[in-house]
Amino acid sequence: MYYPDELIEEVRMRNDIIDVASSYIKLERKGRRYFALCPFHNEKSPSFSIEPSKQLFYCFGCNKGGSVIQFIMGIENLDFLEALRFLADRAGIVLPEPDDTKEKEKSILRKQILDINKEAARFFFSALAGKDGARAQAYLIKRGLIEKTLRQFGLGFAPRGWNDLTKILSKKGVKNELLLASGLSLQTKTGELVDRFRNRIMFPIFDIRGNIIGFGGRVIDDTQPKYMNSPDTLVYNKSRELYGLNYARQSKSKRLLIVEGYMDVISLHQAGIDYAVASLGTALTQSQAWILKKYAEEVIIAYDSDSAGQAATLRGLDVLEKAGCNVRVLLIPDGKDPDDYISNNGPEKFKNLVNGAISLLDYKIRVEKNMYNLDTIDDKLKLLNSIADILAAHDNSIERELYTKNYAQEYGISLESLNNEVQKRRNRQISRQKPYSYNKNMSPGRTFLEIPQIDTRFGELEHILLVMLCNENRLFDKVSKKYGLDAYIDKSAKKIAEKLYKRLEQNKTCVFAELLNVLEPKEASYLVRVAETNSGLENTDKALQQILNKLEILKLEDMQKQTIERIKNEEDGMIRQKLGLEFSKRAERIAELKRMA
Ligand code: UTP
Ligand code: MN
Repeated sequence: MYYPDELIEEVRMRNDIIDVASSYIKLERKGRRYFALCPFHNEKSPSFSIEPSKQLFYCFGCNKGGSVIQFIMGIENLDFLEALRFLADRAGIVLPEPDDTKEKEKSILRKQILDINKEAARFFFSALAGKDGARAQAYLIKRGLIEKTLRQFGLGFAPRGWNDLTKILSKKGVKNELLLASGLSLQTKTGELVDRFRNRIMFPIFDIRGNIIGFGGRVIDDTQPKYMNSPDTLVYNKSRELYGLNYARQSKSKRLLIVEGYMDVISLHQAGIDYAVASLGTALTQSQAWILKKYAEEVIIAYDSDSAGQAATLRGLDVLEKAGCNVRVLLIPDGKDPDDYISNNGPEKFKNLVNGAISLLDYKIRVEKNMYNLDTIDDKLKLLNSIADILAAHDNSIERELYTKNYAQEYGISLESLNNEVQKRRNRQISRQKPYSYNKNMSPGRTFLEIPQIDTRFGELEHILLVMLCNENRLFDKVSKKYGLDAYIDKSAKKIAEKLYKRLEQNKTCVFAELLNVLEPKEASYLVRVAETNSGLENTDKALQQILNKLEILKLEDMQKQTIERIKNEEDGMIRQKLGLEFSKRAERIAELKRMA
């Protein structure tokens, strides 16, 4: 590990799991636990829970579990070191630079890429102001952008030459390797480097700290493709970024408006709607939804209203809902994008559209409505059925009641019959939902839940032993005598035991959440699951003895098998007799142990 155990533990302890989790999900207290809809799988009623006293989370539905570290790894889609850094930043802890050389090299390369991106942005910016950029500048002005906006967003121009930027950067000593790693240059078949972006208006992409992590480049005419973008690099992951968030997060508004394109964000900001961000043409991802949730109390989707935009909106709604965002949908008349609308109708009209954005339910039902021709009774029935489906799927009961009333009125049916239809569907849903099960054999086989390779006979028992030992460190003397490190059969349990035994030998304490610190998410999930699904660990001394007995039985049974083999192959009668005696003594011990269990 790159950091000392104590430092990792400090980062964990200074980030209360309830604080951290509640910025992503809505937690509700029930007794000593908090419950929420699981952020790691889709569900309608909460099986995700956090126990604050233990600083652990666990989902009974998908069996994911761990400490605040695994929570952040999962929800922010980070690896261990990234998660640690994230949590350290959050708690104001300064981590030393990693001394692992590979990590070090990566972090140097990251810094170098950011540096040359900045150089490149400067180059593009001055090219736009210069002679080569005259046409591009005229184009941007024609589209209504003023100079202050061009400066704010750092817009630029990539000249039409093959390698203008590559040449300049190379002259400054930038290595080919770095030019390729940044995505600014491409290698031709003959091996020489050329510019990725040529004859395009350049949009630098900023992260929230203001670093330039990538670029988008737009043609000035009708050439295809319209936009060219930086590839994913060490500093840019398009599924995690939102264009414009560096400005939007400083907005006074508690909303975020999500649009599709660079131009939309820029003209919205120029029009005073400074809380717009773009998902840059890709479907909204779950990580982006978490980010939106983190920065906004309300998210408004304003995608194009053409059919592709509508499909994108519906998909986006799903991921946003799953992230627990309050969502509304803004409808722009005539299949326009926000930028077109503002150019034609001005900012005030657009602000009216924002205020008139409709709820998620209304939007879903509107989409359905557009699919039917409401002149026929058949179509009307189909629509009412879909409305009942949509209402039944909506969990908030107050909203459900209000909307049911509303739609009954709007479509001229009795409230009673619409209510009945909705209720029927809800009853069906509830009966389909299985009650929570503590039985591991019944856990859903979700594909994303990876279970570590566990020895089928010893694995679970050895993990239970470790959980007990961690809950009650005083048991160490007894456990280490009866079940030393060498006794462990299961590899993953042994790895955990090595760490735990070492600490306890040095008379240091170890709490359960700490034990998880350096485990892979799947190992942590397994250990938490073992802890959660084995009740009766409370009456510890007796329970401990039972586990030790069970383990002893397994070991003795293994020895019995070996003895049988040896007896079969032994020709010397005396030895056979001796082995036979051993066998029956052991059989007695096994019987005795089983009686105690
Ligand atoms: P749009 O075609 O709506 O572009 O694509 P736009 O931003 O409104 O640009 P203008 O108004 O035509 O100048 C939306 C977003 O999809 C991505 C870009 O991020 C763009 O901003 N896109 C689009 C691409 O990455 N490549 C393309 O070829 C087209
Ligand atoms: Mn546009």
